[in-house]
Amino acid sequence: MSSIDYNEKIPNNVNLGEDRALKRALEHWQPNYLNWWQDMGPEGSQDFDVYLRTAISVDPQGWAQFGHVKMPDYRWGIFLNPGEQDRKIHFGDHKGEDAWQSIPGEYRANLRRIIVTQGDTEPASVEQQRHLGLTAPSGYDLRNLFQVNVEEGRHLWAMVYLLHKYFGRDGREEGEALLERHSGDEDNPRILQAFNEKTPDWLSFYMFTYFTDRDGKFQLCALAESSFDPLARTTRFMLTEEAHHMFVGESGVSRVIQRTCDMMNELKTDDPGALRAAGVIDLPTIQRYINFHFSVTIDLFGADESSNAATFYSTGLKGRFEEGKRTDDHVLKNDSYPVLEIRDGKLVEKQVPMLNALNEVLRDDYIKDSAGGIKRWNKVIEKAGLDFELTIPHKAFHRNIGSFKNVNVSPDGEVLRDEQWYQHVDKWLPSDADREYIASLMGRVVEPGKFANWIAPPVIGINRQPIDFEYVRFN
Ligand SMILES: [Fe+2]
Ligand SMILES: [Fe+2]
Repeated sequence: MSSIDYNEKIPNNVNLGEDRALKRALEHWQPNYLNWWQDMGPEGSQDFDVYLRTAISVDPQGWAQFGHVKMPDYRWGIFLNPGEQDRKIHFGDHKGEDAWQSIPGEYRANLRRIIVTQGDTEPASVEQQRHLGLTAPSGYDLRNLFQVNVEEGRHLWAMVYLLHKYFGRDGREEGEALLERHSGDEDNPRILQAFNEKTPDWLSFYMFTYFTDRDGKFQLCALAESSFDPLARTTRFMLTEEAHHMFVGESGVSRVIQRTCDMMNELKTDDPGALRAAGVIDLPTIQRYINFHFSVTIDLFGADESSNAATFYSTGLKGRFEEGKRTDDHVLKNDSYPVLEIRDGKLVEKQVPMLNALNEVLRDDYIKDSAGGIKRWNKVIEKAGLDFELTIPHKAFHRNIGSFKNVNVSPDGEVLRDEQWYQHVDKWLPSDADREYIASLMGRVVEPGKFANWIAPPVIGINRQPIDFEYVRFN
């Protein structure tokens, strides 16, 4: 591989050509990455020409170049947003000091952990989604899946760049380990549980890109505030791509709802059995998928009280969502924040030191943001003249991390005894029968302009192409 001109081959704005150590490290890593893509990336897709957006620079014209590409030839680039001159640290104990261009020794271990944890989620989601191409509901959707996949691959490159550039040998080892852990692998799983769950069908895929990619957005926003400037600049650029992933999720769910509502009106029924017989996804099932993906995703923010969260903030490694827009002192030593706990069988608020509650702060910001899409989905139902409202469940519902672990809470926030939980759980979370039904709908539709029966076409195509454009050529 040494004859490749990496400056050519890997679009970048980090002077790759001039950094020999970094070049050498990436020369070793790239073939392993491509092997991983071959083995764990989108199944059976290596020869397809896919209408993809490739970033070749960070300016508005450069980061969205469209054209048909074979995915293994996708130019996974390395980009940092332009540096801010004399950027200052704006939160935590170092507030007012210059942002770091290299890593202070005392924070090396924590920064490495943060970067590895973020990096691990990127290839994990590609692995989770690797079989979905076989059952795409349209060529348009297939292209969107692949776009998300190559960009998650690029996000892995972004994290590996930081590991190689700033962490020496440890960083190179972590770069290899990122390709060795696999989603759902019993012996060597991905770090975070939500990234070891299956994404078995397209309804799950849309829910995942709406809810779980949005967790990505909030983590990246918090890291974009980091005192370690290269991390801040890398994550800022990743956020531009993340927006499309969430769009795929939001519009995907919206189109499923649209199709269901059309069928409800056509058949004049809201009976799930009748709607399933007609091959669409009844709204209560969509609600159960929302409940599942929302609850699994909010676990990703971590325990409600966390001394690590306090340390990461005070040492300036990880800020809050929109840190710069907040009007407090950005040190937070004297502040408190309400978290929920269970007392005498009821959920009650207690005040805890704000610094220890920063996971909860980020989770609450996330919850506010994810409610926006639910509102827009409800508009689709309302416009169809139907009486049904989708909701997000209470944040204590179906939790596996933090103080609600091992307690049963209904989607309305009522604490339940075990038998009450088991009586109702199939109304609240996808049952085996639900999952089987959704699986039975999955079949491949890829003729340009055609869509599976259970989903409406999109309103517009990608990059102003028509909806029946040949987004994927199969060769
Ligand atoms: Fe990502
Ligand atoms: Fe993403």
